[in-house]
Amino acid sequence: MKLIIQSASVVSSRNTKVRDVFVEDGKIVEAFPESEADEVLDGRGKFLLPGVIDPHVHFRDPGGTDKEDFESGSLAAAFGGVTTILDMPNTNPPTISQKALDEKKKLVNGRSHVNYGFFAGATKDLDALKKMKGIAGIKLYMASSTGGLLLEEPEYWEEVFKIAKARDLPVVVHAEHEGCIQKNMGRKGEEPSDYCKVRSSECAREAVELALELRKKIGNRLHIAHLSTKAELELVRAYKNPKLSCEVAPHHLFFTMEDMEDAFLKMNPPLRTIMDVEALWRSLLDGTVTCIATDHAPHTRAEKEQDVWEAPAGVPGVEFSLPLMLNAVDEGRLTLERVVALMCEGPAQAFGLKNKGGLMVGMDADMVLVDMEMKKSVSAKHVHSKCGWTPYEYFILKGWPVTTIVNGEVVIEKGQLKAKNIGVDIF
Ligand code: DOR
Ligand code: ZN
Repeated sequence: MKLIIQSASVVSSRNTKVRDVFVEDGKIVEAFPESEADEVLDGRGKFLLPGVIDPHVHFRDPGGTDKEDFESGSLAAAFGGVTTILDMPNTNPPTISQKALDEKKKLVNGRSHVNYGFFAGATKDLDALKKMKGIAGIKLYMASSTGGLLLEEPEYWEEVFKIAKARDLPVVVHAEHEGCIQKNMGRKGEEPSDYCKVRSSECAREAVELALELRKKIGNRLHIAHLSTKAELELVRAYKNPKLSCEVAPHHLFFTMEDMEDAFLKMNPPLRTIMDVEALWRSLLDGTVTCIATDHAPHTRAEKEQDVWEAPAGVPGVEFSLPLMLNAVDEGRLTLERVVALMCEGPAQAFGLKNKGGLMVGMDADMVLVDMEMKKSVSAKHVHSKCGWTPYEYFILKGWPVTTIVNGEVVIEKGQLKAKNIGVDIF
């Protein structure tokens, strides 16, 4: 299969240049004559970005497939210009042993529209963790959240960091401090946003501080998931180490705790203040934050309609992270080059995906053509995630992905699924 994308503005973190991109057998290659191409796409007036890599999604397969399965989750990803996802271990059964991982891989094989990788969940069974092969990294829940993978004891954190160090794998920490959250339970009152006061900014800061100290001692790769507060950003900014990466989730950029009227905007970590949101935006620009990741966490409407303290935490996001950020480009809040740095190059670097995140010759032909003039509103009617709702309902966004290419195949074009299930396990 030979493909040419002609005359698009090709974007990297360094520059944007109008050029042709040539693809053969899933890779970007040197120029070849147009007569040899099986397909030619007209990129004039559009921007070609490396496919978005979302290193933090919860696709619920197996065990929660009423909320999402790999087909629906990866379809939502493909429609959103996301060509690689990394899936979290809090499925049912959880991905905490080689056996569970092998079963998950078997189940997902041939059912994903985008490329994928899996995290192992850290538990007290360190032997099981040590034996796990073919993973993107290790997920460590320092606080309780969906799925019961809490590992609270610092002595275990240290062992997990050592295992990661020995294997040169990143540890992804969910950095909230469980003891701090429990202490704050007294703040629980009548308001839905009391939830944000219980899982306070201080609890996040405390956990990040402990994780950074421990990383310094052990020397492993560390990725801090969903940074949400100014205080955490200050710790990360002061730390500066090539083995440290971190992410921000779109919901923490586009909502504050004041928006939390019910459980639909309940997630862990929760929404924060406008001061925190402004600090997050500044950190996207100054390089403190290295990745945008959605923490796509679908739950059914029925579950979210429950009382705030009963309903599960998490919001879907994989389908709209790119249009949200493209709209922010349109509004002059950041550049397209910065979007590529945060959504393509940053995640590729954090998770060692050497052939992804860029459009140089020899790299994987994962890419997305975007139309910066297209304007439409987000609606639950357009959602491909099985949960069937989105926190961004009624947002009017300018800048949308129009063609998604995975492994050199056109997967989405003009709102249609063109090629099915061509994603592969990248680990
Ligand atoms: O809000 C969240 N939802 N945070 C998590 O840590 C887990 C996730 C989920 O799986 O629902
Ligand atoms: Zn998560």
